[in-house]
Amino acid sequence: DVMKDISGIHEIEKQVCSVLGIAETIIVPGDSDKLSLIKNEIGKACARQLERLLDEKNIIAVTGGSTMASVAEALADVDVMGKELLFVPARGGVGVKVSDQANSICAAMAENAGGNHRILYVPDEVSDVLRSTLLQEPSIQEVLSLIESADIVMHGIGEAMKMAERRNTGEEGMNKLKKGHAVGEAFGYYFNCEGKVVHKVSTIGLQLEELPQFKHVIAAAGGNSKAKAIRSYMKNAPKSTILVTDEGAAMEILKGE
Ligand code: G3H
Repeated sequence: DVMKDISGIHEIEKQVCSVLGIAETIIVPGDSDKLSLIKNEIGKACARQLERLLDEKNIIAVTGGSTMASVAEALADVDVMGKELLFVPARGGVGVKVSDQANSICAAMAENAGGNHRILYVPDEVSDVLRSTLLQEPSIQEVLSLIESADIVMHGIGEAMKMAERRNTGEEGMNKLKKGHAVGEAFGYYFNCEGKVVHKVSTIGLQLEELPQFKHVIAAAGGNSKAKAIRSYMKNAPKSTILVTDEGAAMEILKGE
Protein backbone atom coordinates (compact mmCIF):
# COMPACT_ATOMS: atom_id res chain seq x y z
CA ASP A 1 0.00 0.00 0.00
CA VAL A 2 0.89 3.66 -0.34
CA MET A 3 1.92 4.21 3.29
CA LYS A 4 4.35 1.32 3.07
CA ASP A 5 5.90 2.79 -0.09
CA ILE A 6 6.32 6.20 1.50
CA SER A 7 7.93 4.78 4.61
CA GLY A 8 10.27 2.55 2.59
CA ILE A 9 8.96 -0.62 4.21
CA HIS A 10 8.53 -2.37 0.84
CA GLU A 11 12.24 -1.96 0.21
CA ILE A 12 13.06 -3.36 3.66
CA GLU A 13 10.76 -6.34 3.00
CA LYS A 14 12.73 -7.13 -0.15
CA GLN A 15 16.03 -6.88 1.69
CA VAL A 16 14.85 -9.15 4.50
CA CYS A 17 13.72 -11.73 1.92
CA SER A 18 17.12 -11.73 0.31
CA VAL A 19 19.02 -11.95 3.63
CA LEU A 20 16.84 -14.82 4.85
CA GLY A 21 16.50 -16.52 1.47
CA ILE A 22 12.72 -16.73 1.59
CA ALA A 23 9.91 -15.88 -0.82
CA GLU A 24 8.00 -13.25 1.03
CA THR A 25 8.24 -10.96 4.03
CA ILE A 26 5.50 -8.74 5.40
CA ILE A 27 6.59 -6.07 7.86
CA VAL A 28 4.29 -4.09 10.13
CA PRO A 29 5.59 -0.74 11.39
CA GLY A 30 6.90 -0.56 14.97
CA ASP A 31 8.57 -2.92 17.41
CA SER A 32 6.48 -5.35 19.45
CA ASP A 33 9.21 -5.43 22.13
CA LYS A 34 8.49 -1.78 22.87
CA LEU A 35 4.75 -1.73 22.27
CA SER A 36 2.66 -4.86 22.77
CA LEU A 37 -0.01 -3.48 20.40
CA ILE A 38 2.39 -4.18 17.53
CA LYS A 39 1.96 -7.90 18.16
CA ASN A 40 -1.73 -7.43 17.37
CA GLU A 41 -0.70 -5.82 14.09
CA ILE A 42 1.44 -8.86 13.29
CA GLY A 43 -1.63 -10.96 14.08
CA LYS A 44 -3.75 -8.92 11.68
CA ALA A 45 -1.16 -9.08 8.90
CA CYS A 46 -0.85 -12.83 9.38
CA ALA A 47 -4.64 -13.25 9.29
CA ARG A 48 -4.71 -11.34 5.99
CA GLN A 49 -2.10 -13.69 4.53
CA LEU A 50 -4.16 -16.66 5.61
CA GLU A 51 -7.26 -15.14 4.02
CA ARG A 52 -5.35 -14.69 0.76
CA LEU A 53 -4.19 -18.32 0.68
CA LEU A 54 -7.50 -20.00 1.48
CA ASP A 55 -9.16 -22.44 -0.92
CA GLU A 56 -12.67 -23.85 -0.72
CA LYS A 57 -11.62 -26.49 1.81
CA ASN A 58 -8.71 -25.90 4.13
CA ILE A 59 -6.84 -27.71 6.84
CA ILE A 60 -4.65 -25.31 8.78
CA ALA A 61 -2.03 -26.58 11.24
CA VAL A 62 -1.10 -24.10 13.95
CA THR A 63 1.54 -23.98 16.71
CA GLY A 64 1.31 -22.21 20.07
CA GLY A 65 2.64 -18.99 21.55
CA SER A 66 1.46 -15.44 22.08
CA THR A 67 1.98 -14.43 18.44
CA MET A 68 -0.30 -17.19 17.17
CA ALA A 69 -2.78 -16.17 19.87
CA SER A 70 -2.86 -12.68 18.34
CA VAL A 71 -3.54 -14.23 14.93
CA ALA A 72 -6.52 -16.04 16.43
CA GLU A 73 -7.90 -12.73 17.71
CA ALA A 74 -7.43 -11.06 14.33
CA LEU A 75 -9.33 -13.82 12.53
CA ALA A 76 -12.55 -12.29 13.84
CA ASP A 77 -12.16 -9.56 11.19
CA VAL A 78 -11.29 -11.75 8.24
CA ASP A 79 -13.77 -12.60 5.51
CA VAL A 80 -13.92 -16.36 5.05
CA MET A 81 -17.53 -16.62 3.84
CA GLY A 82 -18.26 -19.96 2.22
CA LYS A 83 -14.85 -21.42 3.04
CA GLU A 84 -14.45 -24.64 4.93
CA LEU A 85 -11.86 -24.34 7.67
CA LEU A 86 -10.40 -26.96 9.98
CA PHE A 87 -7.78 -25.83 12.47
CA VAL A 88 -5.52 -28.54 13.88
CA PRO A 89 -2.88 -28.06 16.56
CA ALA A 90 0.59 -28.86 15.23
CA ARG A 91 1.86 -29.35 18.77
CA GLY A 92 0.91 -30.68 22.16
CA GLY A 93 0.78 -28.58 25.31
CA VAL A 94 3.69 -26.36 26.41
CA GLY A 95 4.14 -24.36 29.62
CA VAL A 96 1.39 -23.05 31.86
CA LYS A 97 -0.41 -20.38 29.84
CA VAL A 98 -3.62 -21.97 28.61
CA SER A 99 -4.42 -19.21 26.10
CA ASP A 100 -1.06 -19.73 24.36
CA GLN A 101 -1.49 -23.47 23.77
CA ALA A 102 -1.83 -24.66 20.18
CA ASN A 103 -5.04 -26.40 21.29
CA SER A 104 -6.61 -23.20 22.68
CA ILE A 105 -5.45 -21.18 19.71
CA CYS A 106 -7.08 -23.60 17.27
CA ALA A 107 -10.30 -23.42 19.26
CA ALA A 108 -10.19 -19.61 19.21
CA MET A 109 -9.39 -19.55 15.48
CA ALA A 110 -12.30 -21.85 14.70
CA GLU A 111 -14.60 -19.74 16.85
CA ASN A 112 -13.48 -16.41 15.38
CA ALA A 113 -13.24 -17.45 11.74
CA GLY A 114 -16.20 -19.81 11.82
CA GLY A 115 -14.76 -23.26 11.38
CA ASN A 116 -13.94 -26.49 13.12
CA HIS A 117 -10.97 -27.58 15.17
CA ARG A 118 -9.36 -30.62 16.71
CA ILE A 119 -7.59 -31.07 20.01
CA LEU A 120 -4.30 -32.90 20.46
CA TYR A 121 -4.38 -34.24 24.01
CA VAL A 122 -0.66 -34.67 24.62
CA PRO A 123 2.14 -32.79 26.35
CA ASP A 124 4.50 -31.26 23.82
CA GLU A 125 7.53 -32.93 25.32
CA VAL A 126 7.35 -36.68 25.90
CA SER A 127 9.84 -39.44 26.60
CA ASP A 128 10.72 -41.65 23.63
CA VAL A 129 8.94 -44.59 25.25
CA LEU A 130 5.75 -42.65 25.83
CA ARG A 131 5.99 -41.16 22.36
CA SER A 132 5.92 -44.52 20.60
CA THR A 133 3.03 -45.66 22.81
CA LEU A 134 0.99 -42.51 22.19
CA LEU A 135 1.56 -42.80 18.46
CA GLN A 136 -0.47 -46.02 18.55
CA GLU A 137 -3.49 -44.22 19.98
CA PRO A 138 -6.23 -43.80 17.32
CA SER A 139 -7.39 -40.37 18.55
CA ILE A 140 -3.82 -39.09 18.34
CA GLN A 141 -3.24 -40.75 14.98
CA GLU A 142 -6.31 -38.99 13.63
CA VAL A 143 -4.99 -35.55 14.53
CA LEU A 144 -1.50 -36.41 13.27
CA SER A 145 -2.84 -37.48 9.91
CA LEU A 146 -4.84 -34.25 9.70
CA ILE A 147 -1.64 -32.30 10.42
CA GLU A 148 0.08 -34.20 7.62
CA SER A 149 -2.65 -33.33 5.16
CA ALA A 150 -2.67 -29.65 6.12
CA ASP A 151 -2.74 -27.11 3.28
CA ILE A 152 -1.32 -24.32 5.40
CA VAL A 153 1.02 -24.28 8.40
CA MET A 154 1.13 -21.21 10.64
CA HIS A 155 3.78 -21.06 13.33
CA GLY A 156 5.72 -18.86 15.72
CA ILE A 157 9.46 -18.61 16.25
CA GLY A 158 10.85 -18.27 19.77
CA GLU A 159 14.06 -17.19 21.43
CA ALA A 160 15.87 -20.33 22.54
CA MET A 161 16.29 -19.52 26.23
CA LYS A 162 12.78 -18.12 26.61
CA MET A 163 11.33 -21.27 25.08
CA ALA A 164 13.50 -23.49 27.27
CA GLU A 165 12.15 -21.63 30.32
CA ARG A 166 8.59 -21.98 29.06
CA ARG A 167 9.18 -25.71 28.73
CA ASN A 168 10.65 -25.85 32.21
CA THR A 169 13.76 -27.46 30.73
CA GLY A 170 16.00 -29.21 33.27
CA GLU A 171 19.67 -28.55 33.93
CA GLU A 172 20.94 -31.08 31.42
CA GLY A 173 18.91 -29.59 28.59
CA MET A 174 19.82 -26.04 29.62
CA ASN A 175 23.52 -26.90 29.54
CA LYS A 176 23.15 -28.40 26.11
CA LEU A 177 21.49 -25.22 24.84
CA LYS A 178 24.13 -22.98 26.41
CA LYS A 179 27.01 -25.08 25.14
CA GLY A 180 25.48 -25.17 21.67
CA HIS A 181 24.86 -21.38 21.76
CA ALA A 182 21.19 -21.88 20.89
CA VAL A 183 19.46 -18.66 19.81
CA GLY A 184 16.23 -19.75 18.12
CA GLU A 185 13.45 -22.28 18.51
CA ALA A 186 10.59 -23.61 16.42
CA PHE A 187 8.65 -26.91 16.51
CA GLY A 188 10.75 -28.09 19.48
CA TYR A 189 14.03 -27.66 17.57
CA TYR A 190 16.74 -25.33 18.89
CA PHE A 191 19.13 -23.61 16.47
CA ASN A 192 22.45 -21.81 16.79
CA CYS A 193 23.37 -18.70 14.74
CA GLU A 194 24.46 -20.85 11.81
CA GLY A 195 21.09 -22.57 11.80
CA LYS A 196 22.47 -25.85 13.09
CA VAL A 197 20.07 -27.88 15.25
CA VAL A 198 21.81 -28.06 18.64
CA HIS A 199 18.94 -29.68 20.53
CA LYS A 200 15.64 -31.26 19.72
CA VAL A 201 12.82 -32.02 22.10
CA SER A 202 11.09 -35.34 21.57
CA THR A 203 7.61 -34.23 20.56
CA ILE A 204 4.39 -35.47 19.08
CA GLY A 205 3.20 -33.32 16.21
CA LEU A 206 4.74 -31.54 13.28
CA GLN A 207 8.45 -32.20 12.72
CA LEU A 208 10.82 -29.75 11.05
CA GLU A 209 11.74 -32.23 8.28
CA GLU A 210 8.09 -32.39 7.23
CA LEU A 211 7.72 -28.67 6.57
CA PRO A 212 8.77 -28.68 2.88
CA GLN A 213 5.82 -30.94 2.02
CA PHE A 214 3.25 -28.25 2.83
CA LYS A 215 1.84 -25.95 0.19
CA HIS A 216 1.96 -22.82 2.34
CA VAL A 217 3.96 -22.00 5.45
CA ILE A 218 3.46 -18.73 7.32
CA ALA A 219 5.89 -17.84 10.12
CA ALA A 220 4.95 -15.00 12.44
CA ALA A 221 7.48 -13.49 14.83
CA GLY A 222 8.41 -9.92 15.70
CA GLY A 223 10.32 -7.71 18.12
CA ASN A 224 13.93 -6.60 17.99
CA SER A 225 14.89 -9.35 20.46
CA LYS A 226 13.74 -12.08 18.07
CA ALA A 227 16.01 -11.11 15.17
CA LYS A 228 18.65 -13.75 15.90
CA ALA A 229 16.00 -16.40 16.49
CA ILE A 230 14.35 -15.60 13.15
CA ARG A 231 17.66 -15.69 11.28
CA SER A 232 18.70 -18.99 12.82
CA TYR A 233 15.37 -20.66 12.13
CA MET A 234 15.14 -19.37 8.54
CA LYS A 235 18.34 -21.22 7.66
CA ASN A 236 16.18 -24.34 7.99
CA ALA A 237 12.87 -23.02 6.71
CA PRO A 238 11.34 -23.92 3.33
CA LYS A 239 12.24 -21.21 0.82
CA SER A 240 8.56 -20.65 0.16
CA THR A 241 8.01 -19.46 3.75
CA ILE A 242 6.09 -16.23 4.22
CA LEU A 243 7.47 -14.29 7.18
CA VAL A 244 5.20 -11.85 8.99
CA THR A 245 7.26 -9.65 11.26
CA ASP A 246 7.69 -6.08 12.52
CA GLU A 247 10.12 -3.28 11.84
CA GLY A 248 11.94 -3.91 15.13
CA ALA A 249 12.94 -7.43 14.10
CA ALA A 250 13.46 -6.54 10.42
CA MET A 251 15.93 -3.70 11.09
CA GLU A 252 17.91 -5.90 13.46
CA ILE A 253 17.95 -8.76 10.92
CA LEU A 254 19.43 -6.40 8.33
CA LYS A 255 21.94 -4.99 10.84
CA GLY A 256 23.33 -8.47 11.33
CA GLU A 257 24.41 -8.55 7.69
O1 G3H B 1 7.82 -21.67 18.93
C1 G3H B 1 7.85 -20.47 19.20
C2 G3H B 1 6.91 -19.89 20.13
O2 G3H B 1 5.67 -20.45 19.94
C3 G3H B 1 6.86 -18.39 20.06
O3 G3H B 1 6.07 -17.90 21.10
O4 G3H B 1 4.87 -16.05 20.00
O5 G3H B 1 4.88 -16.26 22.47
O6 G3H B 1 6.95 -15.58 21.25
P1 G3H B 1 5.65 -16.36 21.19
